[in-house]
Amino acid sequence: MKTFRNDFLWGGATAANQFEGAWDADGKGPSTSDMCTNGSPENPKRITRQWDEGAFYPSREASDFYHHYKEDIALMAEMGFKTFRLSIAWTRIFPTGMETEPNEAGLKFYDQVFDECKKYGIEPLVTISHYEMPYALVEKCNGWEGRECIGYFMNYCRVIFEHYQNKVKYWLTFNEINAGTMPMGNVLSLGTVKGYTGTILDFPDDPKVRYQALHHQFVASAQAVKLAHEKYPQFQMGNMICFITMYPLTCNPADMLKAQQEMQMMNWFCSDVQVRGEYPYYADRYFEEHGIQIRMEEGDLELLKEGCVDFYTFSYYMSNCVSEKPSEEIGQGNLTGGLKNPYLQASEWGWQIDPQGLRYTLNEIYSRYQIPMMVVENGLGARDTVEEDGSINDTYRIDYMRRHIEQMKEAVRDGVELWGYTPWGCIDLVSASTGEMAKRYGLIYVDKHDDGSGTLKRRRKQSFYWYKKVIESNGEELD
Ligand code: BG6
Repeated sequence: MKTFRNDFLWGGATAANQFEGAWDADGKGPSTSDMCTNGSPENPKRITRQWDEGAFYPSREASDFYHHYKEDIALMAEMGFKTFRLSIAWTRIFPTGMETEPNEAGLKFYDQVFDECKKYGIEPLVTISHYEMPYALVEKCNGWEGRECIGYFMNYCRVIFEHYQNKVKYWLTFNEINAGTMPMGNVLSLGTVKGYTGTILDFPDDPKVRYQALHHQFVASAQAVKLAHEKYPQFQMGNMICFITMYPLTCNPADMLKAQQEMQMMNWFCSDVQVRGEYPYYADRYFEEHGIQIRMEEGDLELLKEGCVDFYTFSYYMSNCVSEKPSEEIGQGNLTGGLKNPYLQASEWGWQIDPQGLRYTLNEIYSRYQIPMMVVENGLGARDTVEEDGSINDTYRIDYMRRHIEQMKEAVRDGVELWGYTPWGCIDLVSASTGEMAKRYGLIYVDKHDDGSGTLKRRRKQSFYWYKKVIESNGEELD
């Protein structure tokens, strides 16, 4: 019976904007996430154009990986990590995005991080752009709405590819690029918020702008992949999708159709472009019905064809239901919600826990593309309690991960090609959707709280010891 490959990449995932802190250290410029305040499910986080003296900006210090990277990577090594997914902060390398020369101190920081990984045989998996961009580019060209953003991004890619060519093999272009198909994408991934101060939910969304910006990201992603294939054949280039599996709430054909449409535009659209190299057939009708006309330049479509990714990665936390009938029974999600599934339980944040859905999703993706895959985010956001003796008994997190790994194993038996698994926020970090610290995903606890207090001390949770055994046994020992 098939099981995980011998070189399966077990590890964990983080992102600079939620983990590194040191927002203005050594020449770093402000990014969009540095301009976001904290929040909660009741009080959505805000993006502010100017510093609001009375507000708290959680990404400024976050978990301070910048000053703890040696300790953190040693802890990952203790768990037996084979890979560590992290992102590079564009603003450490190009503080405004528009400089012609890179910031050497920024380059040096990641040199040190990658060298530290190498010391323990940990393979870095690098996201080039994870939910942040230089804030200066928001002011200059309304983020990715401006075509010139592609050129700035390529300057950044050229520098990091050349500089880290012997240290990094696996690259992902844009984190959850399909965030751009949803209103939350304006703040999180597209930076199309020039002049705006307000909550991330109240932004006056314009799908025409969003899809234009997304087109520019597609072109940028394809150019980066093309450059890598031509100049650095040792690189493996991947995409990254926020996969929110949508089930029809009933077998009413109208619900089936609605679920199919949502799956198309939310989950498949971006990867159809990035894996197959062309806009999918169903997009035309959607664009027509939403008054969207994408401005393209000559050569864009050829470029998309020339910049197809080598492997497919995605985040998987939950599934949701859809129905043509309105309902009060709402299920929450990281980028968008849906309807409640009567067969599933949800986390405290309303994300519906669906391990079998992961097997289903892996099969769906593989049957569509037949290229290798990685689950690069998965996990349970939960409140943790530190007991008097310092232990953290996060059995709920172990249970969540165990059930998802079991289903990944089933999918491998089904025949899908799975390269790795990097659960999200392996060390506690700031939540992207709410800006909270209290919503923790880590196997390692960080003493940091929603009001910014805390010593930043790291502690091993019970899940730390459990995951160590999982990795040692290559996924065989899950109890
Ligand atoms: C994904 C993002 O959507 O989910 C991460 O890529 C994010 O950046 C993660 O942190 C979990 O979401 P949240 O909102 O709980 O932090």
